[in-house]
Amino acid sequence: METKILKMDPGNPDIESLQICAEILKTGGTVAFPTETVYGLGANGLDVSAVKKIFEAKGRPGDNPLILHLTNINDIEKYSLSFSNEARLLAKIFWPGSLSIILKKKDIIPDLVTGGLNTVAFRIPSNPIARKLISLTGLPIAAPSANLSGKPSTTDGKHVIEDLFGKVDAIIDAGKCEVGLESTVVDMVSYPPAVLRPGGIPFEKIRMIIPELIKDYHISETDTPRSPGMKYRHYSPEAPIILVKGRDEKVADKINKLTEQEPKSGVLCSFETIDQYTSLNKICIGSRNDSDEIAANIFDSLRMFDKLDVKIIYSEFFGGGQMGDAIMNRLFKAASYEVIDLDL
Ligand code: TXA
Ligand code: MG
Repeated sequence: METKILKMDPGNPDIESLQICAEILKTGGTVAFPTETVYGLGANGLDVSAVKKIFEAKGRPGDNPLILHLTNINDIEKYSLSFSNEARLLAKIFWPGSLSIILKKKDIIPDLVTGGLNTVAFRIPSNPIARKLISLTGLPIAAPSANLSGKPSTTDGKHVIEDLFGKVDAIIDAGKCEVGLESTVVDMVSYPPAVLRPGGIPFEKIRMIIPELIKDYHISETDTPRSPGMKYRHYSPEAPIILVKGRDEKVADKINKLTEQEPKSGVLCSFETIDQYTSLNKICIGSRNDSDEIAANIFDSLRMFDKLDVKIIYSEFFGGGQMGDAIMNRLFKAASYEVIDLDL
């Protein structure tokens, strides 16, 4: 398939190119576009054959539901049966932004979008290119992250081109995404309301509005049944990742021993600790004191290891700060929950 690539300045959406992309979406095609979290692969969320193309391009399992992207809160009621006062409050406070809200769906939304569930996730993004594109279509745009299924999400136009060139109708390349991690997914249908995926908006901020909110996600190996890697393989670079837990010096000692045994190994570490490692293939994810920076770099860092052609990757833990849960959630999945715990 021929893929149009449209370069765009993130602060200055190019209306002519966006009109071309909107036309592609309105006529049943697929367009990858930037959002503030990660790039999304969009299609008309009311058109089954268009949505099918998303699953095909990504190689995504059909039972994994998609998020519908809108630009106007008033449109929610066209597609949902249950916009409660609490959900409305979240929408008013956090939209546009990195929050996806699960509500009961109306029949107009095809089952393919929701993986057969009677609920659907909505998000109103803040990125100006995404907003302009969606509003030009006048449609709810179904968009998962614009990566091949199982690979790290795409947070830069060049990642999208690597994964989806030749598989989608157009790619809007506007450089790097601000947040770098996907939206927080909050289920406002079940009781108590629950965060199902930690993301761009920290749990604590949402709980300030919804006090009964619970966490229904995994951020460590201990709260997850260990099961064979493939089931969890997600966000993964080509080489397997092992997380190493413990005090800084012990972690560096252990990783140095391991990387000296296997020269084709890589290390994912922080600005504060990078000098402690002897490996030639070390990637700095950012400063321990800035969890926003680590979140913004995590997927790019994981993808960089593919370029280094390493056979195995050792990573530190990065659980501190307000994005810590979301970062560790992705890292545990990327590592298939493989951990060397030096505190044991
Ligand atoms: O930031 C984001 O959320 C990005 C950008 C493009 O908006 N999108 C994204 O989509 O990350 P995706 O498909 O990669 O992740 C959507 C997540 C999945 O974990 C899916 O299982 C969950 O949301 N989800 C969607 N609808 C759901 C539903 N009705 N019930 C439970 N989980 C749902
Ligand atoms: Mg995804």
